[in-house]
Amino acid sequence: MSRVYKPSDYVVEKSRLQSFEKYKEMYKKSLEDPEAFWSEIASDFYWQTPAQPCNFLTYNFDINKGKIFVKCMDGAVTNVCFNLLDRNVRNGHGDKIAYYWEGNHPDDYSRITYKKLMVLVCQFANALREIGVGKGDRVSIYMPMILETVVCMLACARIGAVHSVVFAGFSSDSLAERMSDCKAKVLVTSDGAWRGEKLLVLKKMCDDALEKAQTKHNHKVDMCIVVSHLSRVTPCGQLPDDIKTLYKWNVDRDVWWHDLIEGQSTICPPEWMNAEDPLFMLYTSGSTGKPKGVLHTTAGYLLYATTTFRYVFDYRDKDIYWCTADVGWITGHTYVVYAPLANGATSVMFEGSPFYPDNDRYWSLITKYKVTQFYTAPTAIRSLMKFGDEYVKMHDLKTLRVLGSVGEPINPEAWLWYYNLVGNSRCSIVDTFWQTETGGHVLTSLPGATPMKPGAAGFPFFGVAPSLLDDNGKLIEGPGEGYLVFSQPWPGLMRTLFGDHERYEKVYFSKFPGYYCTGDGAKRDEDGFLWVTGRIDDMLNVSGHLMSTSEVEGVLTEDPRVSEAAVVSKPHPVKGESLYCFVILNDGAKFDADLIDCLKKRVRARIGAFAAPDVIQYAPGLPKTRSGKIMRRILRKIALGDHDIGDTSTLAEPAVVEELFKNRP
Ligand code: WT7
Repeated sequence: MSRVYKPSDYVVEKSRLQSFEKYKEMYKKSLEDPEAFWSEIASDFYWQTPAQPCNFLTYNFDINKGKIFVKCMDGAVTNVCFNLLDRNVRNGHGDKIAYYWEGNHPDDYSRITYKKLMVLVCQFANALREIGVGKGDRVSIYMPMILETVVCMLACARIGAVHSVVFAGFSSDSLAERMSDCKAKVLVTSDGAWRGEKLLVLKKMCDDALEKAQTKHNHKVDMCIVVSHLSRVTPCGQLPDDIKTLYKWNVDRDVWWHDLIEGQSTICPPEWMNAEDPLFMLYTSGSTGKPKGVLHTTAGYLLYATTTFRYVFDYRDKDIYWCTADVGWITGHTYVVYAPLANGATSVMFEGSPFYPDNDRYWSLITKYKVTQFYTAPTAIRSLMKFGDEYVKMHDLKTLRVLGSVGEPINPEAWLWYYNLVGNSRCSIVDTFWQTETGGHVLTSLPGATPMKPGAAGFPFFGVAPSLLDDNGKLIEGPGEGYLVFSQPWPGLMRTLFGDHERYEKVYFSKFPGYYCTGDGAKRDEDGFLWVTGRIDDMLNVSGHLMSTSEVEGVLTEDPRVSEAAVVSKPHPVKGESLYCFVILNDGAKFDADLIDCLKKRVRARIGAFAAPDVIQYAPGLPKTRSGKIMRRILRKIALGDHDIGDTSTLAEPAVVEELFKNRP
């Protein structure tokens, strides 16, 4: 039995919701009368045309009854960028700091007010319009954690263009595939960036990706806009005398950001958007390998991002909030960009690494900026734990009130370290379960209101109705474990997969008609806490990055020496999970160090460094059922060296299992 942690008096005193009862009451209201609940939040925003009554949230979740859809405030007209910037400036917050930006190098930092951010966004939005980008056009973004990235996203939102941010750790192949899939008109990047002492030449990656988009996918991106970042920041290592030797410059296609915005007006009328017009898309791994372009729309996403931020982080005026996520992931979209700005918050945005120049960078920044809410990932917590308590104790962290965790289940050991040491046994921990698809938090604790248990995600957020189902789709009431599904939408749930509504219906709504299926398992304990147990499909979560086994398998079998590959997850002390790969070779091919090295490099190059396999093992065969399905459950045991493999009666060739145990490296 795990201990229940009640919110401390310190947190309760300052929080919006001061008791579990209050949470339950509001939760009930949010489900019983969604219109009343969300309309109150909507009234904070500016609507060019208000919502029509009675159609606040309409949907069909039952594939047997027709097309799946979700609509929120359909018919209302607004602009998200206008609500984030102009509205706050008009309300007298123009001089409030929107971001304290901290570069990779500690000598490199700046700040930007709401008013200044609005000016930069308007200029860039005008520039985009001038080069022919308009409502509905896609803009790919491959950028480091710099303010221009926020400016670019918001400029797209202002003119109704759909941004598609690709995390700048992805390979040029992955970028090419994503730009082509969404038929991006423009790509925005920077010449490069430093991460610790490592130089990333992003423009070079883009050069390769733009070429591959054309040759491999037959898609031509018209223009590549480049932020000059390397010349501006304090170098953290050796730079060549002429930075321009690091990449090519194609005068027909490439243009500097600063040249493009020069002379642009600082006023830019927003494009008025229907509530259900697309705001952005973001690719996430799919279990079949091909990434899925998750699409979020205007009003529902804005409302949901705003509300979760307000309650989950309990953000108050004068608080300083910091989310360490990269803008390339959904956490960065919702909780670095959209939600904090919608709430008129002041955030820290950090470009660098937690380990540079030393392993206390996070803690020193919490002190430097007097951070009140800190939001990071379990993998970061575990990697910082390794360096011992001294790094934390060196710094004054007393401003902290709420500590967030996201990306994977947090193990109780890391939770306790975070709670006791970083949070001085008095901050609330919010373990936020959500997905690229959900737009914002769906299961979490709420500071001041809900109790906590180390490792449990906790309770549903307002408007969210979770259920647990067994294999037959039967509801599990009370304590139990099953598939985590949702029986109705909340405003921020994705609306479709870009260009493939059929896949959307198939992946999320076909397994259990009437429910949105997360792909995760969860259990409910005697006290009603929900614990997310991890993916129940063939997805892996390495350092909080979701990837599909089949995607990695596809890359491994591209090597002519490999005939078949099977990838499973192996628990890892820091990364949470790691990739353990079995490869069957073609006749005549040799399993040696060279092959292992080639395969690891291939995965890094094709997907990204974060996907690099930990182990490649030679496999004379794979444990398959008679129908040919690989039994991954057994492979996971082999990866662990655990001989307790259970029932093998359905295996076509049971002998292969012993062979595989023998071949473990
Ligand atoms: C998958 C979604 C949502 C932001 C980052 C990841 C896992 C995420 C938690 C958590 C347990 C979690 C799930 C989920 N996950 N947060 N607090 N506890 N598991 O977004 O790449 O779309 O991945 O991450 O497996 O399905 P994503």
